[in-house]
Amino acid sequence: MKSNEIRKTFLKFFSDNDHTVVSSSSLLPEKDPTLLFVNAGMVQFKNLFLDIEKRDYVRATTCQKCVRAGGKHNDLDNVGKTLRHHTFFEMLGNFSFGDYFKDDAIAYAWKLLKDVFRLDEDRMWITVYKDDDEAALIWKKVGIREDRIVRLGEKDNFWSMGDEGPCGPCSEILYDLGENVGCRQPACAVGCDCDRFLEIWNLVFMEFERSRDGQMTKLPRPSIDTGMGLERIACIMQGKLGNYETDLFSPVLRRLEDISRSVYGENEKTDTAMRVIADHVRGATFVINDGVLPSKEGRGYVLRRILRRALRYGKKIGIEKEFLYDLSGAVVDIMGDVYPDVRNNHPYIVRVIKGEEERFLETLNTGMRVYDEFVKEIKSKGGKAIPGDLIYKLYDTYGFPVDITAEMAAEDSLSMDTAGFEKSLEEQKERSRAGSRIKGEAWAEGHVAALRDDVRNDFVGYKTLEADGVILTMVRDEQVVEQLDEGEEGEVFFDCTPFYAESGGQVEDEGLVDGPSGKAVVINVIKVKQDVFAHKVKVTMGSLKRGDRVHLVVDKEKRKGVSRNHTATHLLHYALRTVLGEHVKQSGSLVEKDRLRFDFTHFQGLADEELHKTEDIVNEKIMESLNVTTEERQREDAIREGATALFEEKYGDTVRVLRIGDFSTELCGGTHVKNTGEIGSFSIVSEGSLAYGVRRIEAVTGKGAVRHKRKLDNIVKHISRLSNTEPDRVLERVEGIIGELNTKSNEIERLKEEIIAHRVEEAVKNAEEKNGAKVVTMYVPDAKADDLRKVTDIIRNRLKSCIAVVGTREETKGMVVAAVSKDLLSTYSAGKIIKKLAEQYGGKGGGGPQIAQGGIPGDKIKAALKSVADILSD
Ligand code: ALA
Repeated sequence: MKSNEIRKTFLKFFSDNDHTVVSSSSLLPEKDPTLLFVNAGMVQFKNLFLDIEKRDYVRATTCQKCVRAGGKHNDLDNVGKTLRHHTFFEMLGNFSFGDYFKDDAIAYAWKLLKDVFRLDEDRMWITVYKDDDEAALIWKKVGIREDRIVRLGEKDNFWSMGDEGPCGPCSEILYDLGENVGCRQPACAVGCDCDRFLEIWNLVFMEFERSRDGQMTKLPRPSIDTGMGLERIACIMQGKLGNYETDLFSPVLRRLEDISRSVYGENEKTDTAMRVIADHVRGATFVINDGVLPSKEGRGYVLRRILRRALRYGKKIGIEKEFLYDLSGAVVDIMGDVYPDVRNNHPYIVRVIKGEEERFLETLNTGMRVYDEFVKEIKSKGGKAIPGDLIYKLYDTYGFPVDITAEMAAEDSLSMDTAGFEKSLEEQKERSRAGSRIKGEAWAEGHVAALRDDVRNDFVGYKTLEADGVILTMVRDEQVVEQLDEGEEGEVFFDCTPFYAESGGQVEDEGLVDGPSGKAVVINVIKVKQDVFAHKVKVTMGSLKRGDRVHLVVDKEKRKGVSRNHTATHLLHYALRTVLGEHVKQSGSLVEKDRLRFDFTHFQGLADEELHKTEDIVNEKIMESLNVTTEERQREDAIREGATALFEEKYGDTVRVLRIGDFSTELCGGTHVKNTGEIGSFSIVSEGSLAYGVRRIEAVTGKGAVRHKRKLDNIVKHISRLSNTEPDRVLERVEGIIGELNTKSNEIERLKEEIIAHRVEEAVKNAEEKNGAKVVTMYVPDAKADDLRKVTDIIRNRLKSCIAVVGTREETKGMVVAAVSKDLLSTYSAGKIIKKLAEQYGGKGGGGPQIAQGGIPGDKIKAALKSVADILSD
């Protein structure tokens, strides 16, 4: 049976038995931060098992895309080494949500395997949880021999999705591939780690829910969750010894054989490499298809790891260039009919893979050299481990995921100083934290340390733009001072402040300080640390003293403009995801009074139509006048409910959730308008590339948008005045003018050529003869080096046998080009002519015998040209 038929037969068997066929969910678990990727068929039904959600079916069957490359179920390290593990695989499953239980689950499984798939009964083994007598009895009843039922413990026969969630004892069905497969040890038996006893189907008897602290509670109704690896059942049904030889993989291996000129099945090392590559390219294709991009964290990092690992294995079998993007085509050929979106998205997938390959290959070679040098040194000193700082260097500078370094180290029989690596990583994080703290202002460590512990402020700026505060301390030129006088600048710390300090891309507030004995303007506000804002002020009247109770007033205009732009970035984020797709993620932003900048992941420039759609969506949301609300929530809860959080940002336990209408929920600490209507209007000003895979949009809102429109209007008006045309005909007119200009430039070019031809004729007429060779010299005004070369070509074409020397000057600099026709090369050399001219007139230059070029002072050019004939006779 082909794998496509196996899938269909499985689903049909269960749908004939009253199961609803449900499509595979995305690989990205919906609203489940406890899980990196969907790792089993039951994930999309988690809430049905827990009985916190109801659907109109109690039995379901699926073929689910899964990835096990991180978290509790992690097969990444086994991929390639075994014939049965994968990062990406398909899981066939049947589920009962409080409907049937063990009896039926076992009966269905046995019937399908024996009667429909017709597997050889003599090769099958069963495992059950150590004290699950009930399951063992049912298996006996359906006809399994007692000695074929093996009882195993927690590790093998108790299944849970992750550290928390629904779980229960399970029973596995294994297939004996024969004595010649796997470890070949006499003691090999069910439970051995080798490839011989292949686990094909796991039946989980869902009975408990495990909470985060490990507590087990009984589920309201016992349920069934089963999972059969499609690749494994295909391996058996297609009579193969490993998954990679089935029709799910072999076309990928064939293509890889072509690319690498290696053959699968001849050498264990090459085979391992080929398996890793085939697996990883398939995994990467599906992970990218579901919206993940290579990055430094989370899912993106898993993707980066598998792509880079595959590349390194490619190098091991002699592939030096990018190839995975091409290989992904073979994956699409196999899977495209079942997963049409993979076929539709293929051009995008190719771009992502190729980009990552290009970036990594650039550094891989240097990184490997660095690694080799270090290893040589470590070994020469009798060292046994790769030091942490080197692991860090390879990671940070050369983009080697740590597991790649670990693999290389294992090949060199070295261990890894992982603790040292963690330390370097932490140090770097600390450095970058310190770096961002002092951004834009000299907030030296010592300076910060000088602040007393009790210097902290209440930020009241979400609710009000004016507040009273007491001056806790003041700093001038890095010294704590008691007082700031008129004209002086310094940093002031209050116990309470309505001023927003620059953070999350939003610029700081400005405003006024009104005290009992003086006034100051607030020029900048920096968050020194949580709840400690340094207000940079300039005293404009009188003085500010420590302990003063002052009135603080935020500049409303600036705050209003900034808030408009901040809310607009959230709308823009939403609009871009709607127009371009879910892969769009914010990667940075700048929110100012008059404009906003929004950086996001996407792989190509936006077409005008896409820009317009984006702009339209944002403006529609503005016109709908939607309420913008905020709420304080526990971080976990907010994310579970679907709030978008930026990866890089660190949030505390309590977060601020910003909601616009019912379509945008993001964690955000910034200031916003209360209603989208306040934004007024939104215009995109520019769109461009920022880095590979990252685009930047600049836009304006409110008054900024009005100003932007006015500026464009003025430009059009100005052009229309200059070109003496009505504004709405200005485009035609400009096109006309450009057309005319082109015609004229062509005409000028033609005339120039005519003049040159004419001059060449003159020069040829005046040619001197030296030892039977014609010497033509010519001065060409306003020429570049290329023009001079062209002129020597014209002369040579015209005379066939000649020496041509032409020159030009641009102010003080002169240039000469000499050319000698082939027949004269035995006597003359262009290079020598130029050298002699340069020597005589104080310049330099050189070249080959046929053509050479030099520079000499501008005022000597004409004399130099005149003297060519004389030089030749020397
Ligand atoms: N959820 C079970 C597994 O993944 C069926 O093995």
